[in-house]
Amino acid sequence: MLTQHQNDLLTRSGPGTPGGKLLRCYWQPVALANELPAGAAPLPIRVMGEDLVLFRDEQGRPGLLALRCPHRKADLSYGRVEAGGLRCVYHGWAFDIHGRCLEQPGEPRESSYKDLIRHTAYPCVDVSGLILTYMGEGAPPALPPFPFFSAPSDHVWTRRMIHECNYLQGNEGNIDPQHLSFLHRVDMGAQVTYGSYLARDEAPVIDVTETSYGVRIETSRIIGEGRRYVRTTNFIMPNNSSFVGVPLVDPKVASPDSNDGYSLNWHVPIDDYTHMKYAICYRISGPIDADLQERLIADGLKEDLSGVRNRRNRYLQNRDEMRASTFIGMGANFQDHDRWVTESQGPIVDRTTENLGSTDRAIIAMRKQMLSAIDAMEQGKLPLFVHEDAADYRLEEFFTGSRIESARDAAQ
Ligand code: FES
Ligand SMILES: [Fe+2]
Repeated sequence: MLTQHQNDLLTRSGPGTPGGKLLRCYWQPVALANELPAGAAPLPIRVMGEDLVLFRDEQGRPGLLALRCPHRKADLSYGRVEAGGLRCVYHGWAFDIHGRCLEQPGEPRESSYKDLIRHTAYPCVDVSGLILTYMGEGAPPALPPFPFFSAPSDHVWTRRMIHECNYLQGNEGNIDPQHLSFLHRVDMGAQVTYGSYLARDEAPVIDVTETSYGVRIETSRIIGEGRRYVRTTNFIMPNNSSFVGVPLVDPKVASPDSNDGYSLNWHVPIDDYTHMKYAICYRISGPIDADLQERLIADGLKEDLSGVRNRRNRYLQNRDEMRASTFIGMGANFQDHDRWVTESQGPIVDRTTENLGSTDRAIIAMRKQMLSAIDAMEQGKLPLFVHEDAADYRLEEFFTGSRIESARDAAQ
């Protein structure tokens, strides 16, 4: 349970809010690179309550500017990509990716007025099919050396989708290992899969360790014959997580290896009541089966990135299906289940009236870490997992995967 003040600190992300300032200390994804190929129309986007326009200049560099032109506030996403930047189509002012005003055609030729104009601009980089930005003050931190940032492009598969709820609900769902025994349960018959291990022990033991990047969560389930199934999941400051996800290659083609990569869910606020979830899948040893990911993850998304199953149609819940095969009657796609549950908690969870249990240990640790990071930041210190030098990120302790071990050995 949190106080209202703590809940506000963690959930409000607009400019100037403590939580918003914390999120702005980190690089954040704002689009997929394939949504903005060279020559594409600029994209209007909303991030943490700010209306922005993302574009690629004639050199192919991504730029992120405040949406409204600093002259008389026309929408720059309708602008022309030319003159070394983005030109407003109202009176022709042009801006580069750094927010410098390059041209003001209506002003006297000798005027230096344009040099006084500095439009809001955030630095962007293309990394692993994502466009990342830094919306904080001062120079951006170094990029964390996540292995998937430097992997060959066909080892990484990414999609994004809208969730109609606060981003913290996404954070919390990712590090709530017990829900895997219920929410996502799909009848697999007699087949022994990792999914069935999750259903075999509904009261897993959850261990939590604070790390240099966030929280490591080890979840153990007794699966019979003296064995236990252990999964390692991570909360990554301040709005990301990594976990054993869907198979990265078709199990009919290659034997599944849950330690040959992982999935990440990165939850970026659009505003306080909506967020964009970036679902990233990374395979270490070779190319990902992109068609398989498309079927397992992207199936069920509309073109506008909202879900086919949504609040307006009660997520197409089917009671016959609940009796016959799935626990919640919403198909087999985990993304749909997670979107339903996080949205069903309301636009912003009222954490002043919740009743946490022992399986919420990781969520409690994450909230504490976020609140201390806000504290540290307010005292002028760098929050956890922000470094000016890439060498200072300690990702050698970062592991995501699963193992089966003897329950007897483990108890000794
Ligand atoms: S409003 Fe953009 S140039 Fe005038
Ligand atoms: Fe889930």
